[in-house]
Amino acid sequence: MSYIVAIDGPAGAGKGTITKLVAKDLGLVSIDTGMLYRCHALAILRNNINLSNDKEIEDMLDKIKIELKNNNNKQTVFLNGEDVTSEIRMPEISKVVSKTSSILGVREKITNLERKIGYEWLKQGKNIIMEGRDITTVVFPEADVKIYLDATPIERAKRRCRQNKRNGINQSFNEVLQSIMERDKNDMNKKVGALKKAPDAIYVDSSKSNVNKIKQKIIKIIRQKTKENKNENIKKDIKSNS
Ligand code: DC
Repeated sequence: MSYIVAIDGPAGAGKGTITKLVAKDLGLVSIDTGMLYRCHALAILRNNINLSNDKEIEDMLDKIKIELKNNNNKQTVFLNGEDVTSEIRMPEISKVVSKTSSILGVREKITNLERKIGYEWLKQGKNIIMEGRDITTVVFPEADVKIYLDATPIERAKRRCRQNKRNGINQSFNEVLQSIMERDKNDMNKKVGALKKAPDAIYVDSSKSNVNKIKQKIIKIIRQKTKENKNENIKKDIKSNS
């Protein structure tokens, strides 16, 4: 039976990197839900929608087509058929998406899309690993494995600076730290879908470990949890057949 791994955590905790590595090692389909929110934010910018008009921001989702594709563990996102995978990473999008993703109607529609994408893969017999801010709490609270991946703001800012350097983005450490703290505040104080640890999610702190160690730790958790669930299902089958 297929299983779902849900991972939440703040910006820069390493969810994207770890999720891709774990997916590769275990043969899971990885789904980065931030790409959906970013794609919608790009449509808002391109169409010059007034950022204080929540209704128009929400309605945009009925006018556009967002598709997430996953080929050999590489994810791409399409806005009305156009590949916008690189464009959604622009700093302007990071600013706008904080606002657009906090609107209730937007969250409801994107949550439905996330579930649809997840179920489509499950129907094909694939196991999935989905990462975001509210996957363990709202999108798939019934996921087989739930993880909250965290790191201190300073560590996350250091990582983001290294990433920016590689991508040719020039921002001082203080600017990066400031923007991380602002995003934490926005993400954690959303009226719906706020970033928080689900009571039964396993807390993993990536501040002091390297990527490989975190990957191994998460793989161990997934193997253990999916084995426990399998045993539970076998016990239920035995009980209902006896
Ligand atoms: O993970 P990211 O930085 O690419 O996410 C982009 C934005 O989308 C970020 O501001 C948080 C928001 N987001 C969200 O609210 N819920 C999710 N499940 C995923 C992302």
